[in-house]
Amino acid sequence: MANRQLTFSIFRYNPHTPEIKPRMQEYRLEELPGMTMFVALNKIREEQDPTLMFDFVCRAAICGSCAMLINGKPRLACKTLAKDLPARITMFPLPVFKLIGDLSVDTGTWFRHMSLKTEAWVHSNKQFDPAKPEDRMDNETALKIYEAERCIECGCCIAGCATANIREDFLGAAGINRIARFMVDPRDERTGEQYFEIMGTEEGAFGCVGLMACDDNCPMQLPLQMQLAFVRRKMAAVGWKYKPQAV
Ligand code: SF4
Ligand code: FES
Repeated sequence: MANRQLTFSIFRYNPHTPEIKPRMQEYRLEELPGMTMFVALNKIREEQDPTLMFDFVCRAAICGSCAMLINGKPRLACKTLAKDLPARITMFPLPVFKLIGDLSVDTGTWFRHMSLKTEAWVHSNKQFDPAKPEDRMDNETALKIYEAERCIECGCCIAGCATANIREDFLGAAGINRIARFMVDPRDERTGEQYFEIMGTEEGAFGCVGLMACDDNCPMQLPLQMQLAFVRRKMAAVGWKYKPQAV
């Protein structure tokens, strides 16, 4: 049986040449066995159009840089197989993030802002003593931290999120997952009130409207709604008693 002919309709726009308006451009390719969208895009760039912009680093669903909207869904190009898609494939850059050009967006600035806002480091006043043996952590806690740390910062949860698409200050599922990671870490000495200042707002855990697109779209299958429920419960418990500082 002959291989399928695929038609790619790809968003094109370069912010450095604003006189050329955004448009869709079509390319045709023969489907190859095991072809991923990453392979298809590289073939298009090598054989048909060297000006096409898109990102990748690892090709193995590790670096998070190849996320884009494929047939309307945020997905990793290197993990999405042509055989799972119809013969006509549309590609857009992820919304929410700043467009670099065509399918390439700047997720780094967003994730840096989120990391600074959530103060994504262990807060401890303990003095480091190199002569002391390491503190042990129980396996269950270590696994919870490891689970949250599996986020590859691809941005799929943010791009598919209704709140993040209308509120640019929303920390989204990735931010909530990040703060959950520190809340379970016994080395982090932050109080409930300190976490509430970051997450007890509409920018944080209370901005989610519960459509659960983050859970559907995360390529790492992180339990994002569970993390949201965990952070919300903690914030609700603190919020009964705590009066947030006036801004
Ligand atoms: Fe990507 Fe999942 Fe991390 Fe969101 S939580 S950035 S979808 S890996
Ligand atoms: Fe790294 Fe796709 S190229 S996740």
